[in-house]
Amino acid sequence: MARTDAPNTARDALSEPAAGRATVHFDFAAMSGPERYRLLASAVVPRPIAWVVTCTPDGTVNAAPYSFFNIFGADRPVLALGILARPDIPKDTATNIQATGEFVVNLVPFDLAEAMNITCIDAPPDVDEVELAGLVTVPSHAVRPPRIAASPVGFECRVMHVLETGPGQLLVVGEILHAHFAQDVLTGPAEHPRIDVRALDLIARMHGPSAYLRSRDMFDLPRPIWGETRARHSPTEQKE
Ligand SMILES: Cc1cc2nc3c(=O)[nH]c(=O)nc-3n(C[C@H](O)[C@H](O)[C@H](O)COP(=O)(O)O)c2cc1C
Repeated sequence: MARTDAPNTARDALSEPAAGRATVHFDFAAMSGPERYRLLASAVVPRPIAWVVTCTPDGTVNAAPYSFFNIFGADRPVLALGILARPDIPKDTATNIQATGEFVVNLVPFDLAEAMNITCIDAPPDVDEVELAGLVTVPSHAVRPPRIAASPVGFECRVMHVLETGPGQLLVVGEILHAHFAQDVLTGPAEHPRIDVRALDLIARMHGPSAYLRSRDMFDLPRPIWGETRARHSPTEQKE
C-alpha cells in the first residue's frame, strides 16, 4: 500500500480509544473488600487449585483448597499462595504455615472435586479435614505434612517468604523440595518424562463460589518466530 500523508480515516478511527470497547472504570480505593474480591476473582479465571496440606505444631493434619495459586519459577522452583484474611481467626493453613514453615500442594483432578470441596469447610483447627473427606494420605519425604494419595501431583514445600499484603492477608512463597507425579500421568522415557495433561484432568476455579472448569478445551497456538514474521511482512528485506 502506497504511503500517503493524507489521514487514513479508517485506521485513525480504529486507533482512537473511543473506537475500542466501551469500558467501565472502578476506583478500587472507593470500593469495599467483598466488591473488589467479586470483580477480581471473577475476572482472573480460570485459576489452578492448590489443595494445601499443613500440620499444626502437634501434628494435626489440615487440608484446604487455595486458588490464589501458581508457580513462579523453576530455578529455584517456587510457588505462591494467596491466603485471605478471615474476620475472626486466621485460616488454619495460614496459622500452620507460619508456625511450621512447611506445606504440601496437591493438584486437583476432576474425580477429586467433591472431596476437595469438603475440605474447604470452615471446621475448627482440631478437625482433620482429610479424614472428613475420606482421603488417604502418604508420608512426605522432607516435610511433616503428608500428601494426598489420590492426587496425581504433590509438591512438598518449605516456606521462603511470607508477605503480609493486607491486614491478615498473606502471600506465601514456598520452595518446592520434592515433586511426586502419579505414574499414569507420565509418558515418554523415564529420564526425560513428559506430562500427559489429558490424563491429569485437572480442574480450575472460575467465578463465584461454586463454578469450576475442566481442562479439556485445549487448542494449539505455535509461538511466533521473529525470522519468519519479518520475512512475511517485508519481503524486500528478505531478498537482500
Ligand atoms: C476452590 C476453592 C478455592 C479457594 N481459594 C482460596 C484462596 O485462594 N484463598 C483463600 O484465602 N481462600 C480460598 N478458598 C477458601 C478456603 O478454602 C476456606 O476458607 C477454607 O475454609 C480454609 O481452610 P483452612 O482454615 O483449613 O485453611 C477457596 C475455596 C475453594 C473451594
